[in-house]
Amino acid sequence: MNRLASDLLGKIQRQQARIAVIGLGYVGLPLALSFARKGFRVVGIDTNERRVSSLNASQSYITDVPHAEIAAAVKQGRFAATTDVGALAEAHVVIICVPTPIKRRYTPDVSYILSAVRSVARYLAKGGLVVLESTTYPGTTEELIQPELEKNGLKAGRDFFVAFSPERIDPGNKHFDVTTIPKVVGGLTPGCAALTKALYGMVIKNIHQVSSTKAAEMTKLLENSFRIVNIGWINEIAQTCHKLGIDVWEVIDAAKTKPFGFMPFYPGLGVGGHCIPEDPLYLYWKAKRYGFNSKFIKLAADVNAHMPAYAAHRLEEMLKKPLEKTKLLVIGATYKKDVKDLRKSPSLRLIEILKHRTKVDFYDPMVPYLKIGGLDIQGVPLTKAGIKHYDCVVIAVDHTAVNYNLIRQNARLIFDIRNVYNNIQDRKIVRL
Ligand SMILES: NC(=O)c1ccc[n+]([C@@H]2O[C@H](COP(=O)([O-])OP(=O)(O)OC[C@H]3O[C@@H](n4cnc5c(N)ncnc54)[C@H](O)[C@@H]3O)[C@@H](O)[C@H]2O)c1
Repeated sequence: MNRLASDLLGKIQRQQARIAVIGLGYVGLPLALSFARKGFRVVGIDTNERRVSSLNASQSYITDVPHAEIAAAVKQGRFAATTDVGALAEAHVVIICVPTPIKRRYTPDVSYILSAVRSVARYLAKGGLVVLESTTYPGTTEELIQPELEKNGLKAGRDFFVAFSPERIDPGNKHFDVTTIPKVVGGLTPGCAALTKALYGMVIKNIHQVSSTKAAEMTKLLENSFRIVNIGWINEIAQTCHKLGIDVWEVIDAAKTKPFGFMPFYPGLGVGGHCIPEDPLYLYWKAKRYGFNSKFIKLAADVNAHMPAYAAHRLEEMLKKPLEKTKLLVIGATYKKDVKDLRKSPSLRLIEILKHRTKVDFYDPMVPYLKIGGLDIQGVPLTKAGIKHYDCVVIAVDHTAVNYNLIRQNARLIFDIRNVYNNIQDRKIVRL
């Protein structure tokens, strides 16, 4: 480790390193606050003015982050948010947590990363550490970030330090948060990795170092591809079981009694959110550039994407009449249980498909209204009289805060896509 690295290591260990987090969303905000809680001074930089003013007024926009936690960090002078990238001039460590969406034709959109890195390059001083957390294709740190940061003549690994450390946070998960999920770290050089390990070691117990930034980038894509492929696979199994007249849920329950070699995944409307539908496509794209076709990823993405249409077809089959002649209530619009996030939600796709054919209302305890195809749709309250009025109640998302007993007592028919009525035998409940 050279003198610049040792200096920064000392600052990190004494909690004197000033940290800037770029991108204050589901990933950046909890991370910034965990460093602030540990005593670091953290500045959060975001291009979204509404988010910045909301944070400086101690208001959270993320379910897992309580207002009080922001208020405490702001009051202690350990956290402030700004839209001004000039704040990077004060930072010893910069952590980048900006979005990485997919453009058309399965092409990664790395424009947010590039824009953040160009700002960092403007203010980068000798001895600084830059860590990318955004999920991206293997090679991004070396091929995109390092050259941008070296444009001013400084050399990575000698004058400043660069690493990739994927974020694994799972919004809505009550058992694991950013500080209790083990962290994978890969540096451009051993010195870069050592500094990054030390940094995260201040707030996270288990750090796992890999040999390169590429290996760290690939680790995240392996994890998320594992999910998309297994969810796609179980969705295909669910369709096969239905054809064969077998209850897929009963079969999964039985299979998971095997104490090794099996891990349960559950069927549903597919995948949503910012990560699982998109991240594996970063790998798909990168592999294609090397002349390799990642068949599993594409196939799983296709099977999952078809699930809302499949659910609509099943609905029509169980109603025994054309959808046009029915009134439907969909429970849950977000991409998974107990989060407010609507991004890429397959439930929205189901509502959209059904809306083309009939009258559909929705109820979601996490979101009062939706925008579908440019139209504002207000959620309905969940009442005894209201439930009776529909031909079928479709449970698309298994939010905890839904009164499933009220639905069961009053619905004429229930399409239980998430198996919330596990083991309840009732002729009006049809499982996926
Ligand atoms: N959401 C998750 O569950 C999750 C989990 C693990 C990893 N990730 C990955 O982390 C990254 C961030 O995801 P997220 O869910 O936090 O996204 P998000 O959209 O919730 O937050 C990103 C924030 O970055 C801001 N931003 C965009 N460009 C910026 C710029 N140039 N400078 C400053 N701010 C900028 C946006 O305004 C937004 O507030 C993505 O790569 C994602 O794949 C997300």
